Amino acid sequence: KNKISIAIDGPAAAGKSTVAKIVAEKLSYIYIDTGAMYRALTYKAILNNSNLEDENELIKILNDTVIELQPGKDGQFIYLDGKDVTNEIRTSEVTNSVSIAAKHKLVREEMVRRQQSFSVNGGVVMDGRDIGTHVLPNAEVKAFLLASVEERAIRRHNENIQKGFSSDLEKLKEEISLRDKLDSEREVAPLKKAEDAVEIDTTSLSIEQVVEKIMNLANERI
Ligand code: C5P
Repeated sequence: KNKISIAIDGPAAAGKSTVAKIVAEKLSYIYIDTGAMYRALTYKAILNNSNLEDENELIKILNDTVIELQPGKDGQFIYLDGKDVTNEIRTSEVTNSVSIAAKHKLVREEMVRRQQSFSVNGGVVMDGRDIGTHVLPNAEVKAFLLASVEERAIRRHNENIQKGFSSDLEKLKEEISLRDKLDSEREVAPLKKAEDAVEIDTTSLSIEQVVEKIMNLANERI
């Protein structure tokens, strides 16, 4: 069987990772959460008291940083220099700063190099913002997931409540909109649908329905 690459892009909290994980599992492919890599760098830079606007400082940190993604029972584990930071990289402090660290050209070039090295032989499902446009421009399947800000904020809100975290729906809406704005308006590899990507509006779709759409696209190419 042909091992293909699947690129899943879209704005914040559009359900990319949930869907990507399931698709990877169904195909026995590896799943790469590229957002987690930017989050891990941001987390380390914050601990370091670094200025996230300082490109040179960030690339210095990144060049000295090992980020590993490992599949586990309940999803992916993220290791930063050998330490499990799976939960630490999801705090609102990291979430609300990551778009600043991710805008720098040198940082993105190094991240893209690392991401491409994970996918040399295909058999990968990768999610992010620039996968179809820059990381895997030759991916056989490209999906661009969309949903209204309202819908995405509600999903994240329900997730937070389920996990027992405090959550403020209005604040989530603001944070998601701001992150989308920063990610779409940055100069280097902004969030953008690749010309050959299939747009999937997930607003009124279930997770299973989105998975099915992507599996259909994949099965046409395998
Ligand atoms: O996907 P996730 O929400 O975890 O991504 C966190 C942030 O990392 C995004 O808001 C964006 O700033 C950055 N990112 C990126 N390119 C990617 C993946 C994530 O710039 N391929």
